[in-house]
Amino acid sequence: MATKPFFLLYTLVVASFLICCHCTEERKVHIVYMGEKPKGGFAAKSMHHSILEAALGSSSGAKESLVYSYGRSFNGFAARLTDKEATRIREMDGVVSVLPNTIIKLHTTKSWDFMGLTLGGTVRFPSEGDVIVGLLDTGIWPESDSFSDKDMGPPPAKWKGICQGSNFTCNNKIIGGRYYNSEGIYASTDFKSPRDSEGHGTHTSSTAAGALVPDTSYFGLAFGTARGGVPKARIAMYKVCWSFGCASADILAAFDDAIADGVDILSVSLGGPPRPFFDDPIAIGSFHAMKNGILTANSAGNSGPDPRTVTNVAPWTITVAASSIDRKFIAKVALGNGQIFIGNSINRFALVGTYSLIYGGGAPNISAGASGDISKYCFPGSLNSYKTEHKIVLCDSISDGSGVLMAHGLGVIMSDSEYSDLAFSYPLPATVISVEDGAQILAYIQSTSNPFATILMGETIEDVMAPTVVSFSSRGPNTVVPDMLKPDLTAPGVDILAAWSPVAPPSVSEDDPLRVKYNVISGTSMSCPHVSGAAAYIKSAHPGWSPAAIKSALMTTATVMDPRKNADAEFAYGAGQIDPRKALTPGLIFDASEKDYVDFLCKQGYNTSTLRLVTGDSSTCPNTTTIGNAWGLNYPSFALSVIDGQRILGVFPRTVTNVGAPNSTYYASWAAPYPLTVSVTPSLLSFSSVGETKSFTVTVRGGAISQQFISGYIVWRDATHTVRMPLVVYTTLPPDDDEPMAARVRRSFDGSSRHHNNGILGAN
Ligand SMILES: *[C@@H]1O[C@H](CO)[C@@H](O)[C@H](O)[C@H]1NC(C)=O
Ligand SMILES: *[C@@H]1O[C@H](CO)[C@@H](O)[C@H](O)[C@H]1NC(C)=O
Ligand SMILES: *[C@@H]1O[C@H](CO)[C@@H](O)[C@H](O)[C@H]1NC(C)=O
Ligand SMILES: *[C@@H]1O[C@H](CO)[C@@H](O)[C@H](O)[C@H]1NC(C)=O
Ligand SMILES: *[C@@H]1O[C@H](CO)[C@@H](O)[C@H](O)[C@H]1NC(C)=O
Repeated sequence: MATKPFFLLYTLVVASFLICCHCTEERKVHIVYMGEKPKGGFAAKSMHHSILEAALGSSSGAKESLVYSYGRSFNGFAARLTDKEATRIREMDGVVSVLPNTIIKLHTTKSWDFMGLTLGGTVRFPSEGDVIVGLLDTGIWPESDSFSDKDMGPPPAKWKGICQGSNFTCNNKIIGGRYYNSEGIYASTDFKSPRDSEGHGTHTSSTAAGALVPDTSYFGLAFGTARGGVPKARIAMYKVCWSFGCASADILAAFDDAIADGVDILSVSLGGPPRPFFDDPIAIGSFHAMKNGILTANSAGNSGPDPRTVTNVAPWTITVAASSIDRKFIAKVALGNGQIFIGNSINRFALVGTYSLIYGGGAPNISAGASGDISKYCFPGSLNSYKTEHKIVLCDSISDGSGVLMAHGLGVIMSDSEYSDLAFSYPLPATVISVEDGAQILAYIQSTSNPFATILMGETIEDVMAPTVVSFSSRGPNTVVPDMLKPDLTAPGVDILAAWSPVAPPSVSEDDPLRVKYNVISGTSMSCPHVSGAAAYIKSAHPGWSPAAIKSALMTTATVMDPRKNADAEFAYGAGQIDPRKALTPGLIFDASEKDYVDFLCKQGYNTSTLRLVTGDSSTCPNTTTIGNAWGLNYPSFALSVIDGQRILGVFPRTVTNVGAPNSTYYASWAAPYPLTVSVTPSLLSFSSVGETKSFTVTVRGGAISQQFISGYIVWRDATHTVRMPLVVYTTLPPDDDEPMAARVRRSFDGSSRHHNNGILGAN
């Protein structure tokens, strides 16, 4: 029996129905990827039909088996195929790959102020209304105040999107809505439209680009003006997630449409375990987005604090960790003996008076087979309701409270050593305290014949430690590209207030009957749209900047985090917490284009065939490519993985583009602790025009290190700009566990081409 409540973080549960069954004759959805769309017009649908007819035979329902034709931004289709038919198609001309449909799960009043984007003090650009943020998510609730189009003109002329489905109306704020369900599985709660039944997509959309909504709160908590990073920008929702999860065929269809529709920024708060890029629908879709000038922001995942858990690590996307803001939700417990304990909880209940207090371990339901050792965790069904009825129950584990509710308890105090750095809301009066405080409360219960207590209505307090990266945020090192630092940066993702679907339960319990318009939740899903909003803000000031330029601006101007509060340092927060206002004027940027990413992939061990799985075009890897590391990519951070005990030598060529004053001179400085030595050549860069580029080389040397990792940085400064890049040197596990990327790419490729089984992607 799992004692840890995996359901607490906002994640959708993986659907298991796609797990390979052995019925090979059954037709299942496959993605047939055919790469870049042919130049000039082409009749996608008829091309895809004829491929299907050739593979299935014209009489056998070729037309009916087609699920999607992708042909707006790249070429391919999704169709229901048996394993045999899939194999036949895989061997056909023009087919780059055939992938199974995999299921991915989904992984703010104050947060924008906390990052310096204040309501009054922020410069807004006239072109904000021309910026379109597209989201791949659970849908959106169009009637929410956050999506009011008051004072907004018609969508920008470039917009080609549509508003799909019945009972779903777009306006000048939500200018597009589409939905995708290749599996055809609808739960009773799912709307067959872009309407959101889960809350997640409504929350992320309003965080990125919601309108100003004064006087919002969660039962009085976190009171203030809810708003997105770019309140005047437009939103386009691509609903790819349903009760069962998010299918890869739908994700690719959404990328295909979003790129052609004309979005400027894509926000994708979902993902799976780290995997080679050619096997990852988000990496492939976002590569096409990058080629079309669209930056994709991704959540890093909610699998922290274990190392090597960061996902969505493609270098053409921005990978976002989650950190705290200076507001913490607490709920106090007062005992009959006068003791008071502070717990973490978003507690909307105001209990009147005091109530009998009982320990779950003292109230087992014997006839259900429970002992005190089980009922102390308050699992549903384990408690004896005669004993717990109308009482506050002390439990030895965090849960969604349903066990105590089932046993007619009135409130719950949960002691747990995990999740101490965030708060959840519950369907009953509840708070989460430390294990030490739990022991004291138990001692009180055992010390008296009539223990009683109360749980106070929640409050918010200032968190002076903020920002720190929250425990659940996925950590580096990057397992797909060891020489590239991921996550790239961090943004607020803890206890964020934003709009909600009024048909979805707001608390951690699915059975909570309460309905709200604004809700407080946590996740890298919540930090990702902060970066999408910030990216849209920069795009509104600099419409011509490339995805890499926007990302570089956000990284090199990020607020440096304190490693004393974040033991994993850069592996937790990358370059630091975004500072959208500073990112407007970064001084220098590290640009990169498709060619740079192709060179990078070739050096990662991709050959022309595996490369084209990602790029979809006629890119090639030169036969002479030396497979090696990622040092040559023009990236705004430096990572160097060394095998334990080896001497260190890393050489990182970089090129910066001047986007500051035409005549400017930058001086390099750096820090790297013993035994590292760094040199930067040249250490002075003089520019005489905007757009001018200059190259430099960073060399890192040193003896073997004994630490797991060493952090440093390189900074370019002129009179007004500070351009900072983090540097991390870390030891990898012995070679056995850490085979070179080239070998890994080969192995996973072989694996994936043989049995394309459902890699299950995770959600954030
Ligand atoms: C449209 O959706 C809203 C929200 O679920 C619902 O209240 C309303 O009844 C629906 N209208 C129709 C015609 O289905
Ligand atoms: C104990 O568990 C049984 C079986 O689940 C249930 O029927 C019964 O109501 C429970 N008893 C109490 C007192 O909660
Ligand atoms: C690379 O090798 C392949 C196969 O050996 C060959 O067909 C191709 O011409 C080579 N390309 C170049 C650029 O040398
Ligand atoms: C930049 O410097 C050059 C040469 O020193 C000078 O001719 C030019 O006027 C300067 N431009 C600006 C904008 O200051
Ligand atoms: C490319 O790499 C894949 C996976 O390692 C391999 O199966 C394939 O034969 C290679 N193709 C070429 C042309 O080398």
